[in-house]
Amino acid sequence: MAIERTLSIIKPDGVERNLVGKVIGRFEEEGLLPVAMRMVHLSQREAEGFYAVHKERPFFDSLVEFMTRSPVVVMVLEGDDAIARNREIMGATDPAEADEGTLRKLYASGIEENTVHGSDSPENAAKEINYFFSDVQVFPRG
Ligand code: CMP
Repeated sequence: MAIERTLSIIKPDGVERNLVGKVIGRFEEEGLLPVAMRMVHLSQREAEGFYAVHKERPFFDSLVEFMTRSPVVVMVLEGDDAIARNREIMGATDPAEADEGTLRKLYASGIEENTVHGSDSPENAAKEINYFFSDVQVFPRG
């Protein structure tokens, strides 16, 4: 296993329901440690840019509206195999299909309002981290 970094977002539904502490606590328990973090209320342009890969999907406009509804917490998590581990801890995109105990099974209300985002590949992790943290100091924990 290798130490990796991945981008995590606690989405508006998670922040609105005061789940920030629970979500970050779970990542810490699992050995995925925040090395950079901030709260941001995404503009329409920022949300559209972040989700540009989904531009042609029927849910794109709704997704952008949701992600700009209220602030999110964006963070870089560092740890062994962080990209895959984060996705295991989050569970499937649709909470109805997520394994017991995963963040989405525990907290998500639907396939769109699914509480957390995590990068799905090393390439996207690098892109997504750069999208939010290109000008920010990170604090390695390993
Ligand atoms: P995320 O992991 O952030 O990546 C893309 C997001 O689009 C996803 O989580 C959901 O919030 C949303 N999404 C994916 N599929 C659908 C869908 N079928 N309907 C509505 N939203 C979706």
